[in-house]
Amino acid sequence: MDDLPSRYDDAADTYDETRGGEARAAAVAAEVDRLAPGPGLLVDVAGGTGTVGAALRALGREVLVADASAGMLRHAVRRLPGRVVRADARRLPLGDGSASVVSLVWLLHLLERSDADAVLAEATRVLRPGGVLVTTVDKDLAHGTTRRTGADGAERVAAVCAGLGLVASGSGRVHGETRWVQTGAGWRVEAFRRGP
Ligand SMILES: C[S@@+](CC[C@H](N)C(=O)[O-])C[C@H]1O[C@@H](n2cnc3c(N)ncnc32)[C@H](O)[C@@H]1O
Repeated sequence: MDDLPSRYDDAADTYDETRGGEARAAAVAAEVDRLAPGPGLLVDVAGGTGTVGAALRALGREVLVADASAGMLRHAVRRLPGRVVRADARRLPLGDGSASVVSLVWLLHLLERSDADAVLAEATRVLRPGGVLVTTVDKDLAHGTTRRTGADGAERVAAVCAGLGLVASGSGRVHGETRWVQTGAGWRVEAFRRGP
């Protein structure tokens, strides 16, 4: 996992134009906003160039983007000045229960299972009681390919979240395209609420 952010440093300058840019981000943000409505801090973990974060802010959300790649964050800072932090998703510089929403968009599928579990545990730590985690799942399946790591398998993520005391609270699909793929069924998104 530790060389993953540096790979995104290299991809940062072409990331938006190749991954659907602001159109995809707006579609993802609308789904996050629908699945996790309400006031309070929304932390977009592994928020990359900040396109999703900026679209969420345009919907009126209070957004903080966290990402480990300095290259990706250079773009995020431009979109969300003062609302960006460089951080490992496994060790967020946030207090327990400080966030109303944590979003994980297109992160878990990249990770080994143990790292994905650590990210989910850290997201749960920073969520307030009643707060909501929203994450993409089954990304590679939406692209018609086999899973890379299996870490974002929907059933697996649901089981890990249940073990962390999170309760499934909604699901959705995001339609869009990147330079390489157009999703037919859509990218799957799941939401989990932290108990009291
Ligand atoms: C596929 S991109 C998704 C970016 C953004 N969420 C989006 O939808 O455009 C994956 C992101 O995860 C970030 N990342 C990878 N490992 C990370 C880690 N350990 N902690 C924080 N961010 C990480 C990368 O730097 C990159 O920005």
